[in-house]
Amino acid sequence: MSTVAPRTDLAECAEIFRSLVESRRAVRRFTAEAVPDTVIRDCLELAVLAPSSCNLQPWSFHVVRNPDLLQQLQHVCLGQSAAKAPLIIAVLAHPNTWKQACADVLRLWPEPAVPKAIDHFYKNSAPFQYNQGWMGWRGLLKRQMVRLIGLRSPVMRTPNSLEQMRLWAVKSTALAAQSLMLAFQSYGYSTCPMEGFDEKRLKQVLPIQKGAIPIMLLAVGIPGERAIYNPRLRFPLDQSVSWH
Ligand SMILES: Cc1cc2nc3c(=O)[nH]c(=O)nc-3n(C[C@H](O)[C@H](O)[C@H](O)COP(=O)(O)O)c2cc1C
Repeated sequence: MSTVAPRTDLAECAEIFRSLVESRRAVRRFTAEAVPDTVIRDCLELAVLAPSSCNLQPWSFHVVRNPDLLQQLQHVCLGQSAAKAPLIIAVLAHPNTWKQACADVLRLWPEPAVPKAIDHFYKNSAPFQYNQGWMGWRGLLKRQMVRLIGLRSPVMRTPNSLEQMRLWAVKSTALAAQSLMLAFQSYGYSTCPMEGFDEKRLKQVLPIQKGAIPIMLLAVGIPGERAIYNPRLRFPLDQSVSWH
């Protein structure tokens, strides 16, 4: 059953959302205070409410609080100060889990019977869309097919290669990562998304599934002294927005 905030609450919701978004900054220095597991779990529950392509949820998270592992991760993160946090969450995108995810959607469908259209979609349409075949050979065929069909009518042109599957997974996972940051912010914890790390060494520290893409490591904690390095800077909105 879907729930929508009553209209009278909307102004308050907008205000809370604004303050949450505006208060989030990339924090580079944290205190040693641990983040409770209950908070971490709730934030992850909120993060996975993010939308994902065909609801296939191509993400996973490694939650690291173990001091030895944290120390190793700091090294993996090139010694940067944000990585000296009491909690680091590795956010991974999975281009190859779509098949299992299709089965899981049908297995976990939240109604007594799976609607026919849903069943058909996850058994036929989704596999057609996402199966790129061995070394991407199917994707190659699909690209030619799409080119022909596309001459006459609109057609979805991606993902039709292994590389496009990587982008496909990263798109949805990045949305979950942003929700995760805002969730921690709502609990009073700050974050720093980090892509400054050595992916190869990361895989030596954490048991990362073959084919998974670590899109960012998220440092989380209570801000320490001089935790924010620079004032906020954003380009003028009109530079990046076109109105039609
Ligand atoms: C994908 C991504 C990777 C980032 N990597 C790092 C990083 O490795 N180290 C770091 O200190 N900040 C990192 N940042 C934080 C950005 O530098 C920061 O978000 C940006 O300067 C804007 O500042 P604000 O988030 O405080 O508004 C990263 C941000 C994103 C979205």
